[in-house]
Amino acid sequence: MAIRVALIGPGRMGQVVARNFLKHPLVKLVLVASRPGSEKVGRDLGEILELPPTGLIIKSSDHLAEAFNATRPDLVIDFTTPEASLRNLKIAAKSGIHLIVGTTGYTRFQLEALRSYAEMYRVSLVMATNLSIGINVLMHAARKMAAILGGFDVEIIEEHHRYKKDAPSGTALRLAQAVAREIEINPDKGLVFGRHGNKKRDQKEIAIHAVRGGGTVGVHKIIFISDNERLEITHESLNRNAFTDCLIRILEYVYLHPPGIYTVEEALGLEPPEKVVEEEVS
Ligand SMILES: NC(=O)c1ccc[n+]([C@@H]2O[C@H](COP(=O)([O-])OP(=O)(O)OC[C@H]3O[C@@H](n4cnc5c(N)ncnc54)[C@H](OP(=O)(O)O)[C@@H]3O)[C@@H](O)[C@H]2O)c1
Repeated sequence: MAIRVALIGPGRMGQVVARNFLKHPLVKLVLVASRPGSEKVGRDLGEILELPPTGLIIKSSDHLAEAFNATRPDLVIDFTTPEASLRNLKIAAKSGIHLIVGTTGYTRFQLEALRSYAEMYRVSLVMATNLSIGINVLMHAARKMAAILGGFDVEIIEEHHRYKKDAPSGTALRLAQAVAREIEINPDKGLVFGRHGNKKRDQKEIAIHAVRGGGTVGVHKIIFISDNERLEITHESLNRNAFTDCLIRILEYVYLHPPGIYTVEEALGLEPPEKVVEEEVS
């Protein structure tokens, strides 16, 4: 039996996900909704994806309640904006649909609102900030390694394509903060971004180095170094289809578990660090 899924936000991420879901045996995409007034509304999803017609006509999100009622999804996946998702996901929760949130950039207040919808209407909520199985495993392993390798220096190197505007990457920053907390380094003041000048390395710091160039999709490397040995883990994203592999694992987990607020780590079978979603706060 396939899991019935609604997708809100057929933008860059939404389109990658939709394309993969259309051919996935575990998923039945029953609804795609976009911004009211968008030129995508009323068009066949296949046209947007440059595929043959799918029969799925993109709906406007200002008629979501009716659309949910007509298509009865088990879960909704959102890749829009924080403001849009707050409105849309409240309607989804009210309709008894579980919420998987791929959108990023929420304030603490907005996150609390999302949690309250899930609790009030007894549906599941997963804040899927990082949709890469490998990065989630890297985060988990790095925290464990840091706890065991007390006293080792920690450095992080991330690499991305030449067009990326922000540095360091959000993932590198979260990785550094998570490891810092494990080894009693201040997760704000203890981070160093690149290095220059005449200052010796402080034992209580983690440096993040950002490399930019070419078409690199994304590389994150964490290095633990003592006087006598060195241990490192590297994750490399090869393409955006990896997002769908992670999403499928989350969908299955939510589908098979009672309503609750779950982390991606739980869905992937890793121990949850804490049952909070505050890493997401912008
Ligand atoms: N979790 C992860 O691993 C991950 C990875 C990458 C990105 N993201 C996040 O996912 C979000 C979307 O990213 P993106 O790159 O796909 O952005 P995007 O290309 O701008 O797509 C956003 C989509 O949301 C739609 N939208 C806007 N307002 C809406 C509304 N009120 N109702 C319904 N749909 C609405 C837009 O419609 P129109 O096109 O018609 O305007 C567009 O299709 C961002 O928050 C981004 O940070 C998460």
